[in-house]
Amino acid sequence: MSILKIYQYPEAVLRKKTQAITDFDENLNQLVADMGETMYEAPGIGLAAPQIGRSLKLIVVDTSKDSDTEKEFMAIINPVIIAHEGRQVDEEGCLSLPELSANVDRYKKITVSFLDIKGKAQEITAEDRFSVVLQHEIDHLNGILFLDHLSTLKRSLYKKKVKKWLKN
Ligand code: NI
Repeated sequence: MSILKIYQYPEAVLRKKTQAITDFDENLNQLVADMGETMYEAPGIGLAAPQIGRSLKLIVVDTSKDSDTEKEFMAIINPVIIAHEGRQVDEEGCLSLPELSANVDRYKKITVSFLDIKGKAQEITAEDRFSVVLQHEIDHLNGILFLDHLSTLKRSLYKKKVKKWLKN
């Protein structure tokens, strides 16, 4: 296993269209294992393939019961939100957007259809925090960052901050 490089805003790969995964082979297993390791090392609770420079419809999300138990995560491949209910506002951050956290308005409950690591069709219904994580990561597969959900003012302030970092 290896730790992968996490791409940060404004890297172009974060905005690129992703491709559906069709090969459920050893390469995919390796990529998922590496993404899991990279996510925990960061540390984060979700990671999408564009964040490690791969334009693929693949995310990994933490499913550990609590912080004391052994870390568990799942791969969600080619996900589609097939149902949603209600709204909620919760604070988000992103490994690709350092030093940014803000409230984002999202669905309260979602149902997602996806393929698991073996290529088997699955469905998952998520609420509250887990629903937020899934929506955030699925956004990444469409080239959307949580920054895009913020007000014009907050967005431009962050863009200015990043420009300053890049200069120094
Ligand atoms: Ni993110």
